[in-house]
Amino acid sequence: MSRRKLIAGNWKMNKTAAEALSLVNGLKAEAAKMGKADVVVCPPFTALATVAGAVKGTPIAVGAQNVHWAENGAFTGEIAAAMLKEIPVAYAIIGHSERRQYFGETDETVNKRVKAALAAGLIPIMCVGETLAQRQANETDAVLDRQTRGGLAGLTADQVKATVIAYEPVWAIGTGVVATREQAQEAHAFIRKLVRNLHGNVADQVRILYGGSMKPDNAKELLAQPDIDGGLIGGASLKVADFMGIITCA
Ligand code: 13P
Repeated sequence: MSRRKLIAGNWKMNKTAAEALSLVNGLKAEAAKMGKADVVVCPPFTALATVAGAVKGTPIAVGAQNVHWAENGAFTGEIAAAMLKEIPVAYAIIGHSERRQYFGETDETVNKRVKAALAAGLIPIMCVGETLAQRQANETDAVLDRQTRGGLAGLTADQVKATVIAYEPVWAIGTGVVATREQAQEAHAFIRKLVRNLHGNVADQVRILYGGSMKPDNAKELLAQPDIDGGLIGGASLKVADFMGIITCA
């Protein structure tokens, strides 16, 4: 049941292509310290090609921050999976809470994007997580159940196995308030149990990342939890020293 740790940087809407190149060159210089963890960086679309070119031949992989479900067509502002594959991009973050909150992403659209990513051979990093109000109303389990079930709907067990899930409590994102290791482990175990109920033993192979104010000084205890298989890092992924600090914990 050993799952390889995965540390992914979500750069969000930060870094021009030139700035992204400088950041990824900084990471490349530290590649020898990346050890056994899988490392992914997810720059904005406009920097994907530059970053993908720069990481060729290194252990660093590249991810997008979204992907559309259609193969092509009249979807102004969206990007299709084949366009990402061509770059080449290996991962796609799907259903981040910022997309759910500001851009109308629903469990249904998340599910369509996950299916399109898998069909194209991209590894989806599907995000779930409760808001503070939902946690305070004791709705955390219900929210995680609905989002996980909805996002994975209609997938085969093999497709679920190829999917990465990220648990990101919305109240911990960009706030400096990190979930305690107990809170995080409890949510991860809940998600894994649900995946087991839905898809059987592939649940043991699905990687579940924690995201939300993960930093070098709290990464170690989070990553030591039995059901936490890595991190989806926002702010701390924008600085070489901080991102490397987390990677070396993994
Ligand atoms: P922070 O690490 O900045 O809290 O962001 C987490 C996140 O949203 C990663 O997707």
